[in-house]
Amino acid sequence: MKKILPSKKLEQLPAYLFSRINKLKLEAYKKNLDVIDLSMGNPDIPPDKEIIERLCDTVINHPRTHRYPQAKGMPKFRSTVSEWFLKRFGVKLDPEKEILALVGSKEGVAHLCMAFLDEGDYTLIPNPSYPVYYNATILAGGKPYLFNIEQKDKYLPDFGKIPQKIINRAKIIFLNYPNNPTTAVVEDEKFFKEAISFAKKNNLILCYDNAYSEITFDGYVAPSILQYEGAKDVALEFHSFSKTFSMAGWRVGFVVGSEYIISHLEKFKSFVDYGVATFIQLSAVKALLDYERIVKEVRNIYQKRRDIMIKEFKKIGYIVDIPKATMYLWCKLPQEITKNIGSLKFAEKLLVDKGVAVAPGAGFGSNAEGYIRLALVTANNRFHDTALRFDEVFKELGVRLK
Ligand SMILES: Cc1ncc(COP(=O)(O)O)c(C=O)c1O
Repeated sequence: MKKILPSKKLEQLPAYLFSRINKLKLEAYKKNLDVIDLSMGNPDIPPDKEIIERLCDTVINHPRTHRYPQAKGMPKFRSTVSEWFLKRFGVKLDPEKEILALVGSKEGVAHLCMAFLDEGDYTLIPNPSYPVYYNATILAGGKPYLFNIEQKDKYLPDFGKIPQKIINRAKIIFLNYPNNPTTAVVEDEKFFKEAISFAKKNNLILCYDNAYSEITFDGYVAPSILQYEGAKDVALEFHSFSKTFSMAGWRVGFVVGSEYIISHLEKFKSFVDYGVATFIQLSAVKALLDYERIVKEVRNIYQKRRDIMIKEFKKIGYIVDIPKATMYLWCKLPQEITKNIGSLKFAEKLLVDKGVAVAPGAGFGSNAEGYIRLALVTANNRFHDTALRFDEVFKELGVRLK
């Protein structure tokens, strides 16, 4: 029998960023290496006990919650999101038309592309960025246009540099702050106004990914793009329970914003999924109701880890930027490493030789070569060892830090 080939769209996609690292990680475990896994933004903190109790109680005592869920999100879920959004961001949302439950925000982003892109339509994607924007565009038959975001500009885009002839053929622009992988945050309101006006002028859906809005430090408060005038005409904002409530495996999130865009996303989703299990939706409601208590603790944990890791790196002479948000450190590699082997080879060596798994910058886009991303998803007492193992690899590669 002839080999049945996958679709050209699927073939076109590069191997998932983490598949190479995951493969090496498995080999490292097999070799009994003491692996420190800082590769994925996969929280190691368990969800709050009361959320878990709510889940167990619902699953055991409310058999109706095992039936098909309401795909757009049950009324209780949507009304709780709307109350939380008003309290947190001061933005009023219509629970009927401006909120949609998602099986995680990744699902929503991917399906948004499929709902709106025709063959050859462009999306505008920051380079570097969370890889799903690129991959989902390809799977939907679209064309990604990558625009660079640079450290010297605090990783904010210069919309003026995107060619007008591309913009004219584009339907979606993706923006994400607090940013994965760079950890950048927006501190100047002007950015939001510019982004909204750029999307309006060019008839673009502004897809604002706010997955890390609650993982912020040192008093920084991340805004919602919907706080800014005119946003609801063009923008969708994606939120996730994965990071905020350490519920990554539960697969729940939501999207809010433009009624028009949401109605089409909802229509598309009705053909491919049934939404989030009712018992998960009810647990997510509990999470939002207890938001302040839970998030305070989560923030403290990541902020403490951030400070420990940075201090440990400093001890070996490796200086990295202090992020105001996210669960990551975005670390510039010493020049000789970038020049001689690059971020992927460095990450592979670190993992194979020393058992430390990190994400190579190159996996987030060509403009992120020379960086690696560390996810702070391990216990505080592992950061000392992490720094020592970095030190060993740096020395083996002839890097002089001090
Ligand atoms: C920027 C960004 N958006 C979305 C997601 C996915 O979130 P979810 O688990 O809700 O699908 C991630 C996960 O790493 C992310 O980094």
